[in-house]
Amino acid sequence: MGIHEVQQGRTPHLRLRQWIDDIAKMCQPDAVRVCDGSETEYNSLCAQMVDAGTLIRLNPAKRPNSYLARSDSRDVARVEGRTYICSINKNDAGPTNNWMDPKAMKAKLVSLFSGCMRGRTMYVVPFSMGPIGSPIAKIGVEITDSPYVVASMRIMTRMGQGVLDALGDGGDFVPCLHSVGRPLESGQKDVAWPCHPEQTYIAHFPEERAIWSFGSGYGGNALLGKKCLALRIASTMARDEGWLAEHMFIMGVESPEGEKTYVAGAFPSACGKTNFAMMIPPEGFDGWRVTTVGDDIAWIKPGPDGCLYAINPENGFFGVAPGTSVKSNPRAMESMKENCLFTNVALTDDGDVWWEGMSSEPPAHLIDWTGKDWSPGCGRTAAHPNARFTAPIAQCPSLDADWENPGGVKISAFLFGGRMGKSMPLVFQAFNWSHGVYLAATMGSEKTAAAEGGEGVRRDPMAMLPFCGYNMADYFTHWLNMGRQAPEPPRIFRVNWFRKDENGKFIWPGFGENMRVLKWVVERVHGRGYGVESPIGWMPRYEDMHWDGLDFPKDKFRELMTIDRESGCGEVHDQEELFDRFFDRLPKEFVYERELSKSRLWRSPRTWRPGATGSGARPEVAP
Ligand code: GTP
Ligand code: SPV
Ligand code: MN
Repeated sequence: MGIHEVQQGRTPHLRLRQWIDDIAKMCQPDAVRVCDGSETEYNSLCAQMVDAGTLIRLNPAKRPNSYLARSDSRDVARVEGRTYICSINKNDAGPTNNWMDPKAMKAKLVSLFSGCMRGRTMYVVPFSMGPIGSPIAKIGVEITDSPYVVASMRIMTRMGQGVLDALGDGGDFVPCLHSVGRPLESGQKDVAWPCHPEQTYIAHFPEERAIWSFGSGYGGNALLGKKCLALRIASTMARDEGWLAEHMFIMGVESPEGEKTYVAGAFPSACGKTNFAMMIPPEGFDGWRVTTVGDDIAWIKPGPDGCLYAINPENGFFGVAPGTSVKSNPRAMESMKENCLFTNVALTDDGDVWWEGMSSEPPAHLIDWTGKDWSPGCGRTAAHPNARFTAPIAQCPSLDADWENPGGVKISAFLFGGRMGKSMPLVFQAFNWSHGVYLAATMGSEKTAAAEGGEGVRRDPMAMLPFCGYNMADYFTHWLNMGRQAPEPPRIFRVNWFRKDENGKFIWPGFGENMRVLKWVVERVHGRGYGVESPIGWMPRYEDMHWDGLDFPKDKFRELMTIDRESGCGEVHDQEELFDRFFDRLPKEFVYERELSKSRLWRSPRTWRPGATGSGARPEVAP
């Protein structure tokens, strides 16, 4: 065939070698390169991308060993509309996923992939999600024609020869095939960010446990270990094997007395997981420590004692840049001091990066994410709202001592929180496990720039709407079962940092101040924190929260915690829309939970606030 082979990584694995040969025959690259994950390899790839115009080397004095990539303006976020779960049975994908028959999708993809790597190098990227060799880890091999993907995978996963060694000559791996979808005909000049937006497909084959992604080079569409393997494919493995693969951060909280509690939480994309997991306790919290295990994905399994233990399968952060600053998230800023890739942020005149919210005063001149001159007041944002940094997790100053413990860390509480400008209180606790699972499943959130298309509020059950690899009704049932089997299931909480006042301003200061909520959560978990029973769950009164170091007036807190009967009823009513889509596959518990929620709300005062008598008459009959 005349394909030039650069054998960096070595493997005796016949099935893997056969697969590589088969894919090379189909994609017809100029060269095949099995990556070993070495620093030399990384550096030469980056140098090659600098030459090609894909990367800009940042000023080494400001940002050592770091690069900026500017994507095609049509390839800036996940594409949920073109993401497919190709299960044999359509019902197994469920009503919330795009579905295509696996044979039909394969036929479509084979035609797209045929010859798609002409003029390019085909990279073979062996990676491990979770510590190499850990019984919880899963190995994948990504074949890609994007050097940007290779470099990103080296930061985000454990990648290279160590993984091939762990695979040995017959180990199991998830085949992940990726192409930017732009073959180069002979003599054709490449562009800085090749992609094929009209023909993008992010396809998952859950029965076969395979991933095929075509046409996009961006984040979750292209770094296939992350959303595709560690969430969509892993969630189906988890269902079959009795564990959970979740869109969650994992963090530790240590009290001044040395009591350590681990908390995991699901917030939808760009809703604050990274910030929360790296939080610095604010003034008034002397002796409290927060440690980071992960910021995006948690694999959660019952341990020998039946309790739930979580690991972070990733090895890096792919975090939202805009809004991140020394003030809002110093630990993220510290994590990205060097050895980073930045995508779609702005470039400063001295060769560093900038984005909206990094400093209160923007620089007088920048090159924006599209490569154009930018000055304050020009009417455009300098960074794309979904601009991201890719940083090695080892650079995070708050990394938890047990973050790589193959047995995971014991989870005591789950937080679920969307972005809700109206109605949703700051925090409340579920009455019990099934109520908690119901609260998680009915979570709503305003859409963000992390995914292409649309605005407004949508239901995002467990923040997994774009990431669940099977029918979400079965996923809810699986969640209910996981708690039933635990001797003491984690306590479940809903949170919302994003409630706004009548002027459209956030009522809650957020970021480090979220520690106040976290402290109440931790005390509830240990049976110490006081709470009152509200129509929607247990709530802290003003005096149940720790306010040292923050002047937050009682009436503002009450505003933040108000439950409005009418909008509460409306909310429960809206949930029926989601539930109806699942028909009889929906767990029966949910129907009863909804009816209980309705009756509690119907009989509540018009406005309910913790620690105050309600205002407005209780209705005689259901409104
Ligand atoms: P993905 O990586 O997309 O899954 O998102 P994430 O949940 O990790 O989001 P991240 O922590 O990066 O936050 C995204 C945005 O939310 C940033 O612009 C933050 O500034 C903003 N944000 C985070 N925490 C808070 C908060 O407590 N209050 C407010 N108002 N904004 C916040
Ligand atoms: C998200 O959108 O939830 C992310 C970013 O974490 S991406 O990896 O691009 O999906
Ligand atoms: Mn995410």
